[in-house]
Amino acid sequence: MEKNYKLLCPSMMCANYEELKSEVASLDFAGVDIFHCDIMDGTFVPNMTMGIMDLQAIRKYTNKIIDCHLMIENPGHKVDWFIDAGADLIYIHPESERYVVKTLLHIKERGKLAGLAINPDTSIGAIEEMLNLCDYVMIMTVNPGFAGQKFLDFTKRKIEKLIDLKEEYGFKIMIDGACSPSVIKELSDLGCDGFVLGTSALFHQKKSYVRLVEELREL
Ligand code: DX5
Ligand code: ZN
Repeated sequence: MEKNYKLLCPSMMCANYEELKSEVASLDFAGVDIFHCDIMDGTFVPNMTMGIMDLQAIRKYTNKIIDCHLMIENPGHKVDWFIDAGADLIYIHPESERYVVKTLLHIKERGKLAGLAINPDTSIGAIEEMLNLCDYVMIMTVNPGFAGQKFLDFTKRKIEKLIDLKEEYGFKIMIDGACSPSVIKELSDLGCDGFVLGTSALFHQKKSYVRLVEELREL
């Protein structure tokens, strides 16, 4: 089977913050595609991780695409904070936003890429009307909020449904949560475009980022 190019997206909440500058430089050098920043509010998800100042710092150290995965209640006008801090791509969750279309349109009017991220318990049908506004659709394959969880297998049926709609709408399919090398191989072969890399494939490993990225590209 022909190999699809994989968008590799380090989950920056898993990086070593004592060495953030060199972490970003090493990841950039290793050839990652999109820096993935998880923003949490402690309400939509029971955790808090990165914030606007982390995003500003990462922006200083790389010219590659930075995404913000907003796991916050009512993202609405707050998307401007993250766009102003340097994000190129913003994911919102339809589960936490009353006016999904309005917010997606606002992100696009600001000249940025718009994405929807959906929780394991949200079906494709719930976002079908919005797919024409999405540059990226991200399927959560763990419950959002924490690294190091187990991949939820039942999400695969939903991923297959989304793959069937991809050509019609032209969005990219991203996978977030427990993306191990075997998951990445399987879902990339199926037609998924990109993967968030946390503890299952990139961070806290014995090999260098260069080597790990090389191995993921070869899968
Ligand atoms: C949450 C995060 C994570 C995580 C991925 O949105 O993006 O899902 O860091 O990493 P692992 O591989 O630890 O699940
Ligand atoms: Zn994420």
